[in-house]
Amino acid sequence: MADIRLEGICKSWGDSRVVKDLHFSVKAGEFLVLLGPSGCGKSTTLRMIAGLEEVSAGRVFIGGTDVTGHAPSRRGLSMVFQSYALFPHLNVAENIVFGLKVRRLGRAERDERLKRVAALVGLDGLLDRKPAQLSGGQRQRVALARSIAAEHPICLMDEPLSNLDAKLRHDMRVEIRALQQRLGMTVIYVTHDQVEAMSMADRIVLMRDGRIEQEATPEEIYARPASDFVARFIGLPPMNLIRLAPGTDGAVIDGAPEIGAIHPSPGHDTLLGIRPEHIRLGQGIAARVVAIDYHGADTVISAQLGAQVVQIRAPGRFHAQSGEEIRLSWPPEAAHLFDAGNGMRRADNPRPT
Ligand SMILES: Nc1ncnc2c1ncn2[C@@H]1O[C@H](COP(=O)(O)OP(=O)(O)OP(=O)(O)O)[C@@H](O)[C@H]1O
Ligand SMILES: [Mg+2]
Repeated sequence: MADIRLEGICKSWGDSRVVKDLHFSVKAGEFLVLLGPSGCGKSTTLRMIAGLEEVSAGRVFIGGTDVTGHAPSRRGLSMVFQSYALFPHLNVAENIVFGLKVRRLGRAERDERLKRVAALVGLDGLLDRKPAQLSGGQRQRVALARSIAAEHPICLMDEPLSNLDAKLRHDMRVEIRALQQRLGMTVIYVTHDQVEAMSMADRIVLMRDGRIEQEATPEEIYARPASDFVARFIGLPPMNLIRLAPGTDGAVIDGAPEIGAIHPSPGHDTLLGIRPEHIRLGQGIAARVVAIDYHGADTVISAQLGAQVVQIRAPGRFHAQSGEEIRLSWPPEAAHLFDAGNGMRRADNPRPT
């Protein structure tokens, strides 16, 4: 079976610990996204699973077998590298089928796979070119084609779409996901792009500074972020995190005591999280327009609410002048409460309906 399990994986270079006691599993046929900001240890983790980097501690299991000491070639997986890793002296076609040749696959089968994957990633016309004669996006597609052609049950992908333009990236997202489901592949996909993570993943492992911040489905991570860090990382624009201050009658919005206490009062040591798309305009508490950002399908309004600027996402075109007063409200279940000290989600959050 093509399942993967990491038990207490650590990686240090000298004194710097970049991966810290990582535990997670990927089921056979699952699409798992490793998400997190630049430098949090995603590529290092992927390379340790592939066997390209030694672990400092911990064990890697594939299909129930401890492969921690196994060479990459014995792990039954293919990998798409962030840096493409193409052979400069081979042309596109030769790069794509190189691994198949090494595995002594027959000529007819090789040609068949080459034709299929080249069409899939749109490289048909470029098979005779050398990597140096390709754009970054085209090189990235060669790397992708090479790993798809391998047809290994496990594929590890490190930011495979980062150099493609928006339209191609969208198309490739759909293609990769469809292909993974059709072939029943187990995929670990590294990205720092939350849109890729949300649209492709069965499950997301969100990393921060070498550790797991939250491990959940896209729906869960959006609806119940485990910390203010997750809340800010997932969602566009990110969730508003409103500071509270002590008032006479309970916690008030920092800088706007005149609005009155928040009910039910969460206490002032709380960050009140509200997603921009959950704020309604028209009635409620007063804020002042700072900026209007029209996106076509919707408008993002930045507004001064007490001491902070919050963002509101409203459908369609919203007209207002800078400085104009608008009124904001949100349903009680749209509020997320985080501990202002350690950023963790509080236990007394309203249940989503
Ligand atoms: N060979 C190395 N020697 C020393 N430090 C390294 C080495 N490779 C990576 N690092 C450090 O380890 C940390 C994690 O790097 P890694 O490449 O895993 O991050 P990442 O999450 O993939 O980031 P990005 O999104 O920018 O690709 C970084 O601080 C990086 O500088
Ligand atoms: Mg990386």
